[in-house]
Amino acid sequence: MRILVLGGTVFLGRHFVEEALQQGHDVTLFNRGKSGVNLYPEVETLIGDRVAGNLSALAGRTWDLAIDTAGYLPNVAQAVRAAAEELKDAVDYYAFVSSIEVYTERHCALADEATPVHAIDGAPPDPDAPEAYGIHKTHGEAAVTAAFGRRGLLLRAGLIVGPYDEIDRFPYFVRRVSQGGEVLTPEGPTLPVQLIDGRDLVNWVYRMVERGRTGTFNVAGRADSLTLGRLLETCRDVTGSDASFTWIPGRFLEQHDVGYWHELPFWLPPNQLEFWARIDVSKALRAGLRYRPLADTIRDTLEWDRTRPPGSRPSGAGGLDREKERRVLAAWHDARSGTREP
Ligand SMILES: NC(=O)c1ccc[n+]([C@@H]2O[C@H](COP(=O)([O-])OP(=O)(O)OC[C@H]3O[C@@H](n4cnc5c(N)ncnc54)[C@H](OP(=O)(O)O)[C@@H]3O)[C@@H](O)[C@H]2O)c1
Repeated sequence: MRILVLGGTVFLGRHFVEEALQQGHDVTLFNRGKSGVNLYPEVETLIGDRVAGNLSALAGRTWDLAIDTAGYLPNVAQAVRAAAEELKDAVDYYAFVSSIEVYTERHCALADEATPVHAIDGAPPDPDAPEAYGIHKTHGEAAVTAAFGRRGLLLRAGLIVGPYDEIDRFPYFVRRVSQGGEVLTPEGPTLPVQLIDGRDLVNWVYRMVERGRTGTFNVAGRADSLTLGRLLETCRDVTGSDASFTWIPGRFLEQHDVGYWHELPFWLPPNQLEFWARIDVSKALRAGLRYRPLADTIRDTLEWDRTRPPGSRPSGAGGLDREKERRVLAAWHDARSGTREP
């Protein structure tokens, strides 16, 4: 296939590129040429800025498949609409990486593809507005459907993990467990977790397009099978560390100013956890979605993490600071031994 990747040089886009090259596809990138420069010297890169509306480098070209990873631009709605319009007669299939954050009913488990999504009758909100990310993704989906109809593949992704994940939620725990010692862990070992290796998502997308399969799909890990306890034990087995896990109730963590999800990955208020950790993926499973062993994802993520130069983690990356972890653990042990009030 001739594949156009809009993006392609940070995390998920890199997996789209690398899997395509490995499968012998012909890849073209379109981006500003700012991130991951020279990652793929053998791949043609068309330069343009989606925020500035500069898509002229795409003109006059054709591809079998376009993959659009737009998620963190200031105006995803507008960027996706412009690209889909530009490419509707130049590309056979258009795959848009959307998100389960398009759903408005967030307090339920097992949201499927029929769960209500954001209304898109007004103008897309300012990117800093509440729920802007999900609303922009919903606009993006509508734009792809308007331009491509049944040639569109809408991927409502849950938590995506694996190598190149700069957001550092999953890498945080893999790295932390590999370092050993007492690890602060939230709530209890049965805390549900749902994650998908980006490479499994990508693999499945290419198989779908090759079979001419399109539509809207939740794409996440298996619901109801993974817990934080098993995830961390697998991290310990894979990394051979001596980590021990100290499970601390959420209320105590809140009292000690530990932040949900971003600061302490996989920890969410119970009502949101049900949504994030139990997305219904049965439609994608019926369409052939398959998962690699968790241990492979952990091993490859750690291997990648160890190649990152010290201090290269982006500002705003996730994970609990080591000193804060030590302080909260000490407070917990004090509270448990009755020497200090929690
Ligand atoms: N991580 C998760 O758990 C999760 C969950 C659900 C959905 N998602 C979605 O998964 C996707 C992952 O994205 P990714 O960052 O990994 O994609 P990526 O394709 O690897 O990287 C983003 C690309 O966008 C390009 N870009 C940035 N600004 C641009 C602009 N103004 N014009 C043109 N290109 C621009 C960047 O290159 P330049 O900087 O060189 O322009 C880069 O190549 C997102 O859509 C996200 O919403 C993620």
